[in-house]
Amino acid sequence: MNHRESGNPLPPRFPWNAGIVGLGFCVPERVVTNDAIARMVETSDEWIRTRTGIRERRVADPGTATSDLAIEAARRALQNAGMDAWELDLVLVATTSGDYIWPATACVVQHALGAQRAAAFDLAAACSGFCYALETAASFIQRGAMQRVLVIGADMLARQVNWQDRATCILFGDGAGAAVLTPCAPEEGILTSVLGADGAGLESVWIPAGGTRTPVTPEVLEQRSNCIAMRGQEVYRFAVQIVPEAVRAALERVCLRPSDVDLLVMHQANLRILETVAERLEIPMERVMVNVDRYGNTSAASVPIALTEAMQQGRVRRGDLVVTVGFGAGLTWAVNVIRWNRD
Ligand code: UT7
Repeated sequence: MNHRESGNPLPPRFPWNAGIVGLGFCVPERVVTNDAIARMVETSDEWIRTRTGIRERRVADPGTATSDLAIEAARRALQNAGMDAWELDLVLVATTSGDYIWPATACVVQHALGAQRAAAFDLAAACSGFCYALETAASFIQRGAMQRVLVIGADMLARQVNWQDRATCILFGDGAGAAVLTPCAPEEGILTSVLGADGAGLESVWIPAGGTRTPVTPEVLEQRSNCIAMRGQEVYRFAVQIVPEAVRAALERVCLRPSDVDLLVMHQANLRILETVAERLEIPMERVMVNVDRYGNTSAASVPIALTEAMQQGRVRRGDLVVTVGFGAGLTWAVNVIRWNRD
């Protein structure tokens, strides 16, 4: 579990870095309030608000698939970057709720966008997926193998919950967020990342059936073990312990401290987790992005949605130190330290 033990040595210096030049997101129109959920299971708006900070979430209609949200988020990010899809070298989709078992949802997105030149693949790191994917994209760019990369975090976990399980159905929402990355000056962009995993925590939050280990059978469907199962307190304890450690470790690698952080954009799982982490890092809540109240936990989409809203609200300026953090199933975690490189 200790990321320092498995951590890489200090990163070598490259003549250029990779930075975010465009952002966009897309959520379904349908709003599901806490009161609406309280009509389905035994819960209340008050319980959900005080335990999670969530007021409402977006839930896609049955005809919508993950790629539909991803494609729209991507179009908005490309427009924000002033770039055409055919310029892309890679479409990388972080998701654990793709359109199909296979092939990759990235291939659906690549075709729909008309990104004919781009390679395409999915990356599965659950709620840490977007932050894992940012580092993956940055590495391709730093190595000179790619110039323009589209990174998308997209998930529809409201489709994967058991709507009779009040412990999980209150938490999740659907959504997608996208970022366009290009080369930038070496002192800007994604300065470093810390990625980590602890497979011992696999069963803390997972979908037990539906894969090759336990294929779908009538029994599986009856027991709903093809839906999300979670031991919430385990995930909570994991998050509030590992995230502050990983953020400090990432900042140390580039000789920075938590007090240097202008904006902390964490995976929006639970307001109490965000507050506890901020307190442990001694970062005031004014410098912490919060939108879990409106979207719930959108898994891999939550960081890029929050990042896009931060940009739209004028909360990130060129030169700012932005730290993005994902954590979740696997168990996995990922931190990116970013010197914002666009106005
Ligand atoms: O992206 C990563 C995925 N997951 C997470 O990040 C989740 C992290 N964990 C959490 O956010 C919290 O653990 C939860 C919000 C899931 C739960 O909050 P908690 O404060 O840990 O509650 P709890 O599980 O300890 O449950 C407390 C009580 C229990 O009743 P008893 O045993 O004390 O009588 C639950 O049965 O609350 C009950 N409960 C509910 N009551 C009303 C559980 N869910 C609900 C509900 N409404 N929806």
